[in-house]
Amino acid sequence: PDPEGTMNCPRRQPKLGRAEALLRNKRSQKAIQLSSKLIGMEGDPDLQFLLQGGDLLKVRSPSWKKTRYFKLQEDCKTVWHESKKTFRRKQTFSLDDIAAVRMGRQSEGLRKYTEEQVEIRCFSIMFKGRRKNLDLIASSEEEAKQWVSSLEKMVSRLKNLSCQQKTEHWILSCLRKADKNKDDKLSPSEVKNFFRLINIDVEDEYAEMLFKKCDKSNSGYLTGEEIQHLYELLTQREEIDVIYGEYARTTGFMNSENIVDFLMKEQREKATLEDARRIIEKYEPDENVKEKKLLSKDGFLMYMQHPEALILNSDHTEVYQDMSQPLNHYFISSSHNTYLMEDQLKGPSSTEAYIRALLKGCRCVELDCWDGSDDEPVIYHGYTLTSKILFKDAIKAIKEYAFKTSDYPVILSLENHCSVEQQKVMAHHMNSILGSALITAPLGQGMPTEFPSPEELKGKFLIKGKRLNKLEAIYASEEAADNTDVTEEDESNDEDEEKEGEQAKVGKKKKLKLAKELSDMVIYCKSVHFHGFEDAAQNLSFYEMSSFKEGKAVGLAEESANAFIRHNVDKLSRIYPAGTRTDSSNYDPVPLWNAGCQIVALNFQTNCTDMDVNQGRFLVNGKSGYILKPAYMRDLATDFDPITLTRGDWLKHKTLHVMIISAQQLPKVNKKKSSIVDPLVKVEVFGVPADVAEKETNAIENNGFNPAWNENFQFDVYVPDLALVRFLVEDHDSTSDNEFVGQYTLPFNSLKMGYRHVPLLNKNGDLLPSAGLFVHIMVVDA
Ligand SMILES: *[C@@H]1O[C@H](CO)[C@@H](O)[C@H](O)[C@H]1NC(C)=O
Ligand SMILES: *[C@@H]1O[C@H](CO)[C@@H](O)[C@H](O)[C@H]1NC(C)=O
Ligand SMILES: *[C@@H]1O[C@H](CO)[C@@H](O)[C@H](O)[C@H]1NC(C)=O
Repeated sequence: PDPEGTMNCPRRQPKLGRAEALLRNKRSQKAIQLSSKLIGMEGDPDLQFLLQGGDLLKVRSPSWKKTRYFKLQEDCKTVWHESKKTFRRKQTFSLDDIAAVRMGRQSEGLRKYTEEQVEIRCFSIMFKGRRKNLDLIASSEEEAKQWVSSLEKMVSRLKNLSCQQKTEHWILSCLRKADKNKDDKLSPSEVKNFFRLINIDVEDEYAEMLFKKCDKSNSGYLTGEEIQHLYELLTQREEIDVIYGEYARTTGFMNSENIVDFLMKEQREKATLEDARRIIEKYEPDENVKEKKLLSKDGFLMYMQHPEALILNSDHTEVYQDMSQPLNHYFISSSHNTYLMEDQLKGPSSTEAYIRALLKGCRCVELDCWDGSDDEPVIYHGYTLTSKILFKDAIKAIKEYAFKTSDYPVILSLENHCSVEQQKVMAHHMNSILGSALITAPLGQGMPTEFPSPEELKGKFLIKGKRLNKLEAIYASEEAADNTDVTEEDESNDEDEEKEGEQAKVGKKKKLKLAKELSDMVIYCKSVHFHGFEDAAQNLSFYEMSSFKEGKAVGLAEESANAFIRHNVDKLSRIYPAGTRTDSSNYDPVPLWNAGCQIVALNFQTNCTDMDVNQGRFLVNGKSGYILKPAYMRDLATDFDPITLTRGDWLKHKTLHVMIISAQQLPKVNKKKSSIVDPLVKVEVFGVPADVAEKETNAIENNGFNPAWNENFQFDVYVPDLALVRFLVEDHDSTSDNEFVGQYTLPFNSLKMGYRHVPLLNKNGDLLPSAGLFVHIMVVDA
């Protein structure tokens, strides 16, 4: 046994005759040339490196470390790796599935199963969703760096492709798959197979008709330009032709005036001739047309599919809100049991879960801390079989990834079950790892009376937890806290508490000794118990905040919404999922935002509508994780009540008209080879109870490629500031529940009007590469 593996393990080569090998090599070179040209990376050295491939040591456990050959395939998108299990032929993954490539021993596996000295040769490939990461060791530091940088470059390049390039690349790879005998020709049966691969079921007659139309040479096969023609017939967008035709009526092309006309009349945008010229300059692919200052249909489609023309107002993708209000005037993207990758009972804990949440813009993460061995506190879900990670590893990961997506402050919510000794270790780690980024004293001179703003706290960490005394004590003459006992912060205790009632609870709650070092780090987010809104208003300071279990919070939000909103005008509230949600499911965050609650913590690792809505809420304002509440939720005297909806500034009754026109390239959801999507679209509105509504189109049978609905819906929206719109595509199933295909959720106020493409996200919130919806939106004052 050789623990590090020998890197020159012989690799099996298929035995081929010389002529056949030459032919195969030639075809393969041609395929590579075509793919690399499509993605604009012909001759790129990083691409060449990956196509060449090489041996890497794959690490799965202390004993399972094996050398495997990895290489990028001809489509420039699929990575193949050799497997010893011959029955598992398909050991591949797509570059599209890579979430990140991380240099060094950054995964639990590499930290556990390898020695520190291999650090510089290690890297991990992290996948989107729940696929396990791939832990690898290269033979040298240079090689590891080359793998990491080449993979990163390719992933970023594929992400950067325009919609059109993505579609072309995707169709090309389907064509290659359809061409079973790899002779660069498509037979009629291969064409039918191709239609299935691109998720479109055409009648045999129609397929034959298309085939004949393209087979100009009458050879019985489609080759080269004939395949190109088939592709053009398939990707025709009639609805785009109609819109373009309307504005290109005089000359057959759109000129600058036509573009301005289109933008003002249809898209309801302010536009000048200057804007029109910029669009031509930026999007027209045909140099001759561009020179004549015209926009062709291809150029028009390029523009319509670009982020600046999508349904989401592109001005809102930057930080556009006032960030200088007190912190509690914002909704804050927040996660619950952040360390968990799966469920709350036996799933793994991982620092990767913190990295993912932070990269999604999450600004409040939770650390469930317990005593560990060797004086090192650990994080896991107490009393369960979830695996453990070191507290210091979590803090290191948080420090490294906190400000990559957003500059605004991160709250570390501590659930502390540790002994005083290990609490001191926690305080020490946070001090030494976070350093000056950790807030350890109030900002400014003297005792503050309100929260600092996200702007003032840029790049900073705030600790939320128990504190022995009032913050005012900092300014009093040195006065020792006389009592180091606090009640333990434990969400699971709250279960019993509610059952047993007020009296029993006081005596029952576990007492915990709190280390002064840790207590002193709690500045702006001191956890206290909630004894009603009146008590809070009279007895609590702004920095004393309560956590509410979802059930309790939803009750308050229904029965005393206005009191809750006023409470949240000068304090912070945190909401967390019920302990009974052991499957890590979530709850609807919307009613709690309606009640002004800021930290509405969700299980980020779980794919569900609630997370989609959370992602939609925080999609705007530069994905900063902070969304400013409307003015009527920042005023102590507000009369706003989301349920009774009396007259006031919040009431801006609008009518939303949505036409679902068509969809493009919906992915197959059912893995069964013969199945084709029967798509339908649901339009959902979330917000105050009066605004909640849902409408759906009919299902279109057997067409995920270019279904068209042209169905109209109308919604009344009373409080647009709090409303969100969700587009959900499902695969209709008459015998069981419909299957999820993709969705997109955005704030009502960030909708753009007119003809718009809607991107689609998969269950995990990642973009579906070439899929989309095409809709028409109109919002009018009712
Ligand atoms: C979504 O979560 C469920 C369990 O909650 C899981 O079975 C499923 O595989 C997940 N889907 C994706 C795409 O990760
Ligand atoms: C992706 O696009 C960005 C911005 O347009 C550019 O800076 C970057 O170099 C591109 N990356 C690749 C790999 O093409
Ligand atoms: C404020 O606290 C005091 C002392 O604990 C208590 O007696 C009083 O009832 C509280 N005020 C309210 C409004 O609950």
